Amino acid sequence: MKNIILTGDRPTGNLHIGHYVGSLANRVKLQDEGNYDKFYIMIADTQALTDNAEKVDKVKNNIIQVALDYLSVGIDPKKVNIFIQSQVPELAEMTMYFMNLVTFARLKRNPTIKEELKQRGFENQMPVGFMCYPISQAADILAFNANLIPVGDDQLPMLEQAREIARSFNTLYEEVLVEPKALTPKKKEQSRLVGLDGKLKMSKSAGNCIFLKDEPEVIKQKVMSAYTDPNHIKVSDPGQVEGNVVFEYLDAFATEESFKKYLPEYKNLEELKNHYRKGGLGDVKIKLFLNNILQELLAPIREKRKALEQNIDEIYEMLFKNAQKARKVAQETINRMKQAMGIDYLKLLKK
Ligand code: TRP
Repeated sequence: MKNIILTGDRPTGNLHIGHYVGSLANRVKLQDEGNYDKFYIMIADTQALTDNAEKVDKVKNNIIQVALDYLSVGIDPKKVNIFIQSQVPELAEMTMYFMNLVTFARLKRNPTIKEELKQRGFENQMPVGFMCYPISQAADILAFNANLIPVGDDQLPMLEQAREIARSFNTLYEEVLVEPKALTPKKKEQSRLVGLDGKLKMSKSAGNCIFLKDEPEVIKQKVMSAYTDPNHIKVSDPGQVEGNVVFEYLDAFATEESFKKYLPEYKNLEELKNHYRKGGLGDVKIKLFLNNILQELLAPIREKRKALEQNIDEIYEMLFKNAQKARKVAQETINRMKQAMGIDYLKLLKK
């Protein structure tokens, strides 16, 4: 079987280190392993508009920001088709047919939708388009016959919905659609990096992020402000590692190399954690260590981005060309769907 990888992001803001550990690093790895026939990354503007109808400019301006973030972490446009969702209108058409295969009750049960409704406080003001975005996301995936979908845990209900739609379609009409599978990050802590405040997942809306494009001083200032253990007041106090943002980030980013380079008096993270638990290790020291690690990670990304920013037109051209290629594939799929449903009406002509 062919491997077709597809994933995407909503262009509602710049990508941050939570995206990096949760998905971007893995995408670059998948890209470099080369074990696929096609690899698509969609900038999901249509999906972003489902709860930003009055903020079109925000979505529009962030398309290029997200594209720059992708390219600067090393996603290679020669290997991966990066495109803008709304430039493949077949996805909208497909969504119309899929809507008939999903009940309202099923949409309301979607745990991700439930969570997002709570966060956004829509109550009874929820746009229908937002409610239906899991169906449109199924189209994103099924249009390209994608079988491997690298996503964070929060997207698993979307994948389940896409699989259900594929099964319903295939059972009701004919076997046309491929049932996709999620590829979730391995290390558990990497799938949902906590925000600097230690309360919520890192997200633009919570204002608790370190962005990939942040300047060195900003990174340092954010790291120094990270939530640790409020009861660890004097250096000599015993400290708690669980729920401590600095240690959560070290779990995700520190390697043996980092210790050798920046903190050689400790062998590894276990040793550092034990010292913190016992008391005698101050927050400033662990924060400066984390700062060194993040500065090293983000410097080349920021440099590459600055170079890419000189050629914005080229990036848009790349996106537009890719959308045309993606459309061809989506058209093929929708034609096969229509045949299977028996709504390819041109066949009704006698000659
Ligand atoms: N819902 C995804 C997110 O918020 C973005 C997305 C849109 C996506 N279409 C997709 C992810 C298709 C994977 C596959 O991050």
